[in-house]
Amino acid sequence: MDNGEVRVGMIGYAFMGTAHSQAWRTVNRVFDLPVRARMVAICGRDGPKVAAAAERLGWAEPLTDWRELIARDDIDVVDICTPGDSHAEIALAALAAGKHVLCEKPLANTVDEARAMTTAAADARSSGIRSMCGFNYRRVPAVAFMRQLVADGRLGTIRHIRAAYLQDWIVDPQFPLVWRLQRERAGSGALGDIGAHIIDLTQYVAGQRITGVSGLTETFVKERPLPLAAAGLTAASAATAEYGPVTVDDAALFVARLDGGAVATYEATRFATGRKNGLRVEVNGSLGSLVFDLERLNELEFYDGTAPGTEQGFRRILVTEADHPYLSAWWPTGHIIGYEHSFTHEMRDFLAAVAAGEDPTPSFADALQVQLVLDAVERSARFGSSWIKVEP
Ligand SMILES: NC(=O)c1ccc[n+]([C@@H]2O[C@H](COP(=O)([O-])OP(=O)(O)OC[C@H]3O[C@@H](n4cnc5c(N)ncnc54)[C@H](O)[C@@H]3O)[C@@H](O)[C@H]2O)c1
Repeated sequence: MDNGEVRVGMIGYAFMGTAHSQAWRTVNRVFDLPVRARMVAICGRDGPKVAAAAERLGWAEPLTDWRELIARDDIDVVDICTPGDSHAEIALAALAAGKHVLCEKPLANTVDEARAMTTAAADARSSGIRSMCGFNYRRVPAVAFMRQLVADGRLGTIRHIRAAYLQDWIVDPQFPLVWRLQRERAGSGALGDIGAHIIDLTQYVAGQRITGVSGLTETFVKERPLPLAAAGLTAASAATAEYGPVTVDDAALFVARLDGGAVATYEATRFATGRKNGLRVEVNGSLGSLVFDLERLNELEFYDGTAPGTEQGFRRILVTEADHPYLSAWWPTGHIIGYEHSFTHEMRDFLAAVAAGEDPTPSFADALQVQLVLDAVERSARFGSSWIKVEP
């Protein structure tokens, strides 16, 4: 830190790079924090493109080698917005260089990588170095409020969790073989990309951890045309006439037990025709239920089983009050917020923790636990959906 400034360097400038840039630009304009973020450098591999991104997204300097970014003395935080195949290498180098690290989810492509990152983060912590994984949906105010209601006992004992994250962007078999469909780049498919989100979100809301799973995965389209250029989720590039194998799951489904006694179902798919980014979580407890739907992210449905029988029913809570999480910093009551705010809240929490000398959450250890669940689901699917315990 320098004069109350936290100097940030970010790697990757496409989908998440854009979302994170918006959050770094905004966070100190909205939240009153003891430190300010300064956007020092952005890194990509293509010189002209990263220069244009720096200009567009508000970074002072473009760089083309992430090692150069990490070696700089005027950078305190390394923000990793690249595909999973580079998370471990970059994070380990950044932690070794004494940088705080914010790493996009899933933490890594394998349990071994995630373990190495968690060990390095724990070692760095003794020197005051902080690390966090970017499970941004925790920072949607309605989700954070859902957790508060559960923690306050308003749902009683949690019995059921029902989570689905549904997309449809690869229903077309001609959609090209982008990095998200390649195991060596992405680790897994829908499971790690969007399944990881609902694993983290539900464990966070319920305050319980998954102890075992039985799952299945499916790859509906086994070969796809190779893309003409690298492309992520947002910009599908044109395809070539040559085909390559899809090496990840298109869909993953699993049932789970949690350590607080809840049972759960999870579904993550990129083949739910018509569902663009449908993330829905329902929690049923002995005293009530809560439902969150990302397409209506300013709302929660709450069924309060303690109300008089004549008045019971699901009611809609508009989560825009100043007393709701994060919202006192935004607009007057009823003035809704959106997807990008979850990232601003992520940067707020990260900066606040760095300033306070505290560990932000979710930690790398929390994200390793998600990775263990992903791994357990894949192993279960491989062995006929047999029950696989998740290490504590
Ligand atoms: N939190 C969320 O909701 C969310 C949403 C989407 C993606 N993600 C995660 O964010 C990460 C990135 O995903 P994305 O959708 O932004 O991907 P993307 O393809 O849109 O962008 C990846 C970026 O990384 C750059 N890059 C790749 N390898 C690099 C390297 N070796 N050195 C420098 N730059 C490199 C690419 O040029 C590109 O700018 C993934 O881990 C993904 O799972 C999180």
